[in-house]
Amino acid sequence: MMVADEMIPYGRQSIDESDVQAVVEVLQSDWLTTGPTVDAFEREVSRFTGAEHGVAVNSGTAALHCAMNAIGVGPGDEVIVPAMTFVATANCVSYQGGTPVIADVRPETLLIDPEDVRRRITSSTRAIIAVDYAGQPAEWDELRSIADEHQLTLVADGCHALGAADGGRPVGTLADMTAFSFHPVKHITTGEGGMVVTGNPEWAESMRRFRNHGMTTDGRQREEGSAWQYDVTGMGWNYRLTDIQCALGSSQLKRLPGWLDVRDRLACRYSHLLRDVPGVDMLQIRPDVRHAWHLLVVTIDKTVHGVGRNAMFKGLRSLGIGANVHYRPLTCLTRFSSAAGQCPIAESLGERILTLPLHQQVTEVQVEHVVDSIRNVLSGTTVQGEL
Ligand SMILES: Cc1ncc(COP(=O)(O)O)c(C=O)c1O
Repeated sequence: MMVADEMIPYGRQSIDESDVQAVVEVLQSDWLTTGPTVDAFEREVSRFTGAEHGVAVNSGTAALHCAMNAIGVGPGDEVIVPAMTFVATANCVSYQGGTPVIADVRPETLLIDPEDVRRRITSSTRAIIAVDYAGQPAEWDELRSIADEHQLTLVADGCHALGAADGGRPVGTLADMTAFSFHPVKHITTGEGGMVVTGNPEWAESMRRFRNHGMTTDGRQREEGSAWQYDVTGMGWNYRLTDIQCALGSSQLKRLPGWLDVRDRLACRYSHLLRDVPGVDMLQIRPDVRHAWHLLVVTIDKTVHGVGRNAMFKGLRSLGIGANVHYRPLTCLTRFSSAAGQCPIAESLGERILTLPLHQQVTEVQVEHVVDSIRNVLSGTTVQGEL
């Protein structure tokens, strides 16, 4: 049996000479932070996502926090979030003193279930954060009807979904505000980084202040303007993204369309090959969406071969396949133990999901190797027992 020399990671950045050059140019320029390269990156991401305003920050988590502050979430407010997500989607509500209320997901897609959202609305609900899980847009039309009916703000956690679209409408235009992450495993990277895009100029201005200590001007505005004065109009943080990082982001963004095609092609190959592997199924794709394929998530049905997710994880790792799990549902985490048992679909699928390698450097041969390795684990050659 072939064992790979190196682990094939589930996600990985792609950096080339043009990225290095772009960063070096900024390092040799006057502005390392709050400079023109930040403005340029904001304009480029806004254009790419069809949004009017972009506010660059130093992580996807900061982007979500900025969004929560801009809409005025505070103590006593509830924000509905999906059970199947990274914990930052819920933490950003708590940063503001609000309460995240966890809703269940659809079994076929792991996207937030609009019917469960509806059930969890109270007089304290202020907003819904839906996650475009794995790169697939959430059911935004249904969520929009619910939001309009109850006067709620719709926030997209689009950290998986830069480049995705629904009915031709890009992620970035489907919610009132959309947060992106530029962590190295995401579609494009700035090392760490994030951005909020929105059509609302007041929110954009509020987020610009929030990322900069609540100040009315930043360093460049004071340097280039004739006045030193500034005011602090509210609470804020240092969430600034540097020009160095934005140079990398702009350079990466140029290659994103090609990378989305690569991810799409690899996902098709997985789908084709996995059709012949009973008990290992890909999630469903909603009609008319462009999937951004951040994650290739499969479900493992232990009743078919007697091999569960944990044994599959262990078996694949022993063969050099960097399988992973996204995510432990929020209601299974100690922090949210008071909500344990309230999201049965996420909790049950949380035991069965596995993420397989998918990024722009994965080859079709490697996809075949991953699927062959899955077959080997299922046939018992490499099973090492459940964890
Ligand atoms: C769905 C989701 N939301 C938020 C985040 C937070 O992004 P960052 O790591 O850039 O803070 C991530 C990153 O892993 C994510 O996957």
